[in-house]
Amino acid sequence: MASFLQTNIRLSSNKIVPGKYTSLNNQYHAPSLIRCAAASPGKKRFNIALLPGDGIGPEVISVAKSVLEKAGSLEGLEFDFQEMPVGGAALDLVGVPMPEESFTAAKNSDAILLGAIGGYKWDKNEKHLRPEMALFYLRRDLKVFANLRPATVLPQLADASTLKKEVAEGVDMMIVRELTGGIYFGEPRGISINENGEEVGISTEIYAAHEIDRIARVAFETARKRRGKLCSVDKANVLDASVLWRKRVTALASEYPDVELSHMYVDNAAMQLIRDPKQFDTIVTNNIFGDILSDEASMITGSIGMLPSASLSESGPGLFEPIHGSAPDIAGQDKANPLATILSAAMLLKYGLGEEKAAKRIEDAVMDALSRGFRTGDIYSPGNKLVGCKEMGAEVLKSVDAKVPATV
Ligand code: IPM
Ligand code: MG
Repeated sequence: MASFLQTNIRLSSNKIVPGKYTSLNNQYHAPSLIRCAAASPGKKRFNIALLPGDGIGPEVISVAKSVLEKAGSLEGLEFDFQEMPVGGAALDLVGVPMPEESFTAAKNSDAILLGAIGGYKWDKNEKHLRPEMALFYLRRDLKVFANLRPATVLPQLADASTLKKEVAEGVDMMIVRELTGGIYFGEPRGISINENGEEVGISTEIYAAHEIDRIARVAFETARKRRGKLCSVDKANVLDASVLWRKRVTALASEYPDVELSHMYVDNAAMQLIRDPKQFDTIVTNNIFGDILSDEASMITGSIGMLPSASLSESGPGLFEPIHGSAPDIAGQDKANPLATILSAAMLLKYGLGEEKAAKRIEDAVMDALSRGFRTGDIYSPGNKLVGCKEMGAEVLKSVDAKVPATV
């Protein structure tokens, strides 16, 4: 029988994400740490938690793991990987989306690489038994409040964008999404019966000043390292939480005189992203607007299969994952685009481990494989070579090997 462990509840969101993890049952033998190579003197070692999840998750994680190992080894890095079930995979094994051992492995790692979560099979599950709950547990309990979602139109893929080439070409923006607050976690929430006996659904958009300040600081710092432009997106003409958001972001601007701050309402931002996406450098926004705008931005780049993300906390391991879902319709068919996960591994190296050279090797290798004409179905255009997930991974690996040394 599974046992329960009560964990500390640190946020007020215990209704949406009950503060319990369930142990994996003793049928499941979690693999012990997998040594990639014998420990060698002078090499840096890192523990990486791999959470493949569901659908195409295991396929893209397997490819990204090989690329991470190869790029790391060229920079003297060694990894101990621990692969653990989450989401639907964990539901099938032990009946909960986030087993205690999976969370502990993630929490104790140096960085976490996650594939994708969810699938039709579990769509009818009760809310607390939906695979996506694993994501909320991870976000909440790892306190990864800062979600970085870059959207870059690679020159090789300008034709894959749904926008005109001249509009899409050169787009290079970073969306900084608040990830542990707002309407996703706010109280009160839930479905109840009102005084007329009618069902009502409630979700609450709520932000405390410190939550706004800490994400704004991440955004100002991010903009400072990029082109020095920060656009804060809110709905301050309607929502009180946005009024406070705008006030706090504005107040912080004086600490970052080198960053040019602007504000935009979210409806206008959605329009401007399609009209003239090149006007954006860094965008900072709340949890729900960031969710929506990052999907919109992904289409400008050609495919959601290209976009990585990093979720960072003040201390502790970061969570790195492609922004796409589990794509159950193509799962197990070797059709998935692994590049978003490979680029997430690059973000893991850069933001999670501070290993910029190894990260650059991966980014360069992805560019090189694309320049050599390899394309998965989602980014295919005539004249290129259509490949599956594994072959795309193999081509990126070849490019990692060929590009010695990396340029930073
Ligand atoms: C994302 C996803 C998740 C979110 C879903 C799967 C809960 O859309 O990471 O963007 O809404 O945050
Ligand atoms: Mg989303």
